[in-house]
Amino acid sequence: MKQSVFTVIENTPVTERVSRLRLRGDCSAIERPGQFVNIALPGLFLRRPFSVSDWNDDSLTLHYELVGKGTELLRSMQKGEKLDLLTGLGNGFDLSLAGERPLLVGGGSGVSPLLGLARRLVQQGSRPQVILGFDTREDIFLVDELFHLSLSPSVTTADGSFGIRGLATDAMDLPHSFFYACGPEAMLRAVAQKSPVSGQLSFDARMGCGFGACMGCTKETLNGPRRVCRDGPVFLKEELTWDD
Ligand SMILES: Cc1cc2nc3c(=O)[nH]c(=O)nc-3n(C[C@H](O)[C@H](O)[C@H](O)COP(=O)(O)OP(=O)(O)OC[C@H]3O[C@@H](n4cnc5c(N)ncnc54)[C@H](O)[C@@H]3O)c2cc1C
Ligand code: FES
Repeated sequence: MKQSVFTVIENTPVTERVSRLRLRGDCSAIERPGQFVNIALPGLFLRRPFSVSDWNDDSLTLHYELVGKGTELLRSMQKGEKLDLLTGLGNGFDLSLAGERPLLVGGGSGVSPLLGLARRLVQQGSRPQVILGFDTREDIFLVDELFHLSLSPSVTTADGSFGIRGLATDAMDLPHSFFYACGPEAMLRAVAQKSPVSGQLSFDARMGCGFGACMGCTKETLNGPRRVCRDGPVFLKEELTWDD
């Protein structure tokens, strides 16, 4: 984990509710896709966690959905303004598990970390299939970036206004070697149940400290209680229990 100051280089809405935030700064603590950053915002006691969409040595990209005070403050940030970040948080996805034909499934703002994951899987010679699920066509983002990686993501919309009508799981019809999923818990559960193979799932949780000190984000697993911020946010399908 590293604490450092980042400079806003872009803050652009990509849908009505989701914006892309690009920040310049020291990204040396980020090791894996699926890790997250924790951002301090003026006037707010708790930092706010966001998955890293993609990164290189000196810049990173986030996609954040407008939900409350913190994300409203983020939306008002202008180019050149500074933000205090904790970087390199969480375990992230394990690329060594992918096999030849991994499946990536994302839902809503949870699609964000799939970009960095897809890029690195392509770089290591895997040919990922990607499914992105949204409520409606106005919510869709990240598709162009995935096309730039020469991937052809399948897009589902619940109202049928674009792509396949239905849920992300309705597009899960091809064989895959392993899966990676990120999105709402109901989607994660459905993906885990439908896939016949192993996979890793990234969970969202309300967080306090964000780095393992407060136990405020504990999740029950078959291996006992685990902290989403430190032991996760990525968990293996086989270690999960699902509350009914
Ligand atoms: C590891 C991790 C990665 C995340 N990555 C992303 C991301 O890439 N993009 C993104 O848009 N969001 C992401 N989130 C969620 C994001 O952290 C919250 O939406 C944000 O903190 C809300 O801040 P706020 O001050 O705007 O809203 P608040 O005023 O804090 O809350 C507004 C509303 O949102 C609900 N809420 C807030 N945080 C969460 C949460 N973590 N889970 C469920 N409900 C919540 C609150 O209950 C409330 O109803 C991630 C969360 C975690 C834990
Ligand atoms: S948020 Fe403090 S331990 Fe996870």
